[in-house]
Amino acid sequence: MNQVEKARINDASQMHKLINYFADKGEMLARPLSEIYENIRDYFVIKKGKKVIGCAALHVMWSDLAEVKSVAVVQDSQNQGVGNQLIEACLNEAKELGIPTVFCLTYKPAFFEKFGFSQVDKMELPRKIWTECYRCPKFPDCDEIALTYPMKAEA
Ligand SMILES: CC(C)(COP(=O)(O)OP(=O)(O)OC[C@H]1O[C@@H](n2cnc3c(N)ncnc32)[C@H](O)[C@@H]1OP(=O)(O)O)[C@@H](O)C(=O)NCCC(=O)NCCS
Repeated sequence: MNQVEKARINDASQMHKLINYFADKGEMLARPLSEIYENIRDYFVIKKGKKVIGCAALHVMWSDLAEVKSVAVVQDSQNQGVGNQLIEACLNEAKELGIPTVFCLTYKPAFFEKFGFSQVDKMELPRKIWTECYRCPKFPDCDEIALTYPMKAEA
């Protein structure tokens, strides 16, 4: 079993390459390195030695809302439960923080549905739309699918 760790600043450039590798293939949104540095405390990583084999972030948006973002696992470590461990780490942190709703925007809804996320209309997430999405080059023609995970159901 791999160990999930909080990301360290030295992991940022590997996370940047990993995320943008899949972003270039149209599988997720790109993240600038500056954004990864600024939000380094949001990120979890799983490493093999010094190599980052997967990352994911939990970003708090408001008192009642956090986003799981930038979930990526290197190709040759996929389908071995790494993504699963990263999502669990994000959901556990949201639970510890007492945040009732976690959401994601993704092109891979079926992956998130495995964990109990359900699809919602993006307009149910106005704080996300009006604080971040409006700055995205794809706004307002976003083709990602929004899903939420109700932490309260677990309490
Ligand atoms: C999506 C991704 C993070 C999954 O990571 P992974 O380590 O391969 O996932 P896991 O092995 O932990 O799989 C967990 C479960 O999800 C399923 N799953 C994995 N990828 C899936 C996908 N694309 N669609 C649907 N289900 C998927 C697995 O079959 C497994 O199900 P099981 O528990 O019933 O066996 C990885 O394929 C990836 O990095 N893809 C490119 C980037 C991306 O698309 N990120 C997600 C959007 S932000």
